[in-house]
Formats: sequence, C-alpha cells, structure tokens
Amino acid sequence: MEVRPLTGALGAEIYGVDLAAPLDDPTIAAIRSALLEHLLVVFRDQRLTPAQHADFARRFGPLHTFAYTAARALPGYPEVLRVVKEKEDRKVFGELWHADVTFLERPVLGSILHAIETPATGGDTLFANMYLAYESLSDGMKALLERLTAVHESEVRAENAGPAANGTPGGFVTMGTEHPVVRTHPETGRKSLFVNRTYTTRFSGMTVSESRPLLEFLFEHATQPEFITRLRWGPGTVTFWDNRCTQHRPLNDYHGQRREMHRITIAD
Ligand code: SIN
Repeated sequence: MEVRPLTGALGAEIYGVDLAAPLDDPTIAAIRSALLEHLLVVFRDQRLTPAQHADFARRFGPLHTFAYTAARALPGYPEVLRVVKEKEDRKVFGELWHADVTFLERPVLGSILHAIETPATGGDTLFANMYLAYESLSDGMKALLERLTAVHESEVRAENAGPAANGTPGGFVTMGTEHPVVRTHPETGRKSLFVNRTYTTRFSGMTVSESRPLLEFLFEHATQPEFITRLRWGPGTVTFWDNRCTQHRPLNDYHGQRREMHRITIAD
C-alpha cells in the first residue's frame, strides 16, 4: 500500500488496495491511520457493488442510516445515500460548505463516497482542514471560542424527523442540537473548529444577528485556499473523509451533465 499526499493542507491518495476484496486487519489499520493523518483518503479506479461498499465501510464502525433523507436511499440499500445531479437539475446536494449532519446530537465519524458516473469536466469537491482552521487562530480568539457552543440546525421532512418531531406529514420541521465550537478529536486528541455555513445558525445564548459577524469570519477563515484540497473525480474514485475535522463542498459547475455518487456514512 502506497500513500501519496495530495496538498499541504489535507488528503492523500492510496494505491495498491482493491476495496472490493476482503481486506485483512493490518490493511484496515493502515487505512485508518492514513485517514487520521491526512483527514481524507482517496482510492482510484475501484469497482464496488453497493454490498462491497458497505462491507468496506463496516470495517470502520457501524453504519449510519439516513432516516431524515430516506427518499435518497438506493433501493434495497437503506445505508447507501444516492447523491445525484441529473442533466436537467440546477442544484447539487450539499452545495455549501459543511460537515455532514452536524444538526444531529452525535454527528458521524466519516463518509465513504463512491463515484459511479462523473461529468467530463467539473463536479470536483473541495475539502478543508478544520485542525488548521483552529490552530491558525490567535491565542485570544482560541480562548474566546473555547468558551462557546453553537446551535446546528436543519429543516427536514416531518415524517423523517423521528418520533420526537410533531410536524404535519408533508411539512418540514427543524432538527437541531448544540456542539462546542472547538472540538477535540476523540482519536487524535487534536482540536478543530466545529462550525459550518450549512448547519450552524448561531452561538448558544445569542441571537442570529449577534452571532453572524463572528460566524461569518469563522466560515471564511476556515475555508481559505491554504486549508483546502480540490478533488477531481473519475468513475471508480472512492473518497473517505473524517467528518470530525473536515468540511467539504461539491462544486456546481457542470450543468447539462450527469453525476452520480453513492455515499455510506459511518456512525461515531
Ligand atoms: C456530500 O456532501 O456528501 C456530497 C459530496 C459530493 O457530492 O461531492
């Protein structure tokens, strides 16, 4: 197995591994260790059935199911989320910078995204390193942020929000929770910035307008070019990102072309 770093910020390509084959424990441990070091690992030219994709993902932890987006699941595979932009679509799934599902009390460990069909040009995904975002702040700002928690929210269909939600079927309800703004990674012990433009709406105990200036600064700071990798996909590319210390943003620059990805997400 060969690990080739992609940029100074994050990401590495891994060669010499066939993800469709049964992998031994040392290989899985080496992939996990590359993930912890590089935050994003990329495998090229893989051919995975949904079942092989799920078998690989399960080696890293229990799978997360998408009750709140059940309509996007691959038929027969509730754990596989289809991320598709048809030729006639104008929007992409998850278009703004985000870490996955931070509106849940227990956000996920990471996701493994398998490219099924990719546009001839465009459709890259940006990934950003939230350790660097935190570590590059001044000591004064770090001390301020250490004391703060933030509210993360998302509008979901009422029927997918679970028994606690009491919205009307067909309508939407808000799912939300609070997380520390500075998060300590459970495996590496490193601190990272844990707010994102898609789901973080305000600091706890503050209004949206009071929170906005500092949040806006943090969103911009966290996604500056020095903290980013831009990933070019091809059919069979598989990426695995650590959702606890990264954000990502798929680019919407391929209107008229189709893109289909399958995502399996690992619970934390
Ligand atoms: C996602 O946010 O999970 C989708 C990323 C992508 O389509 O590149």
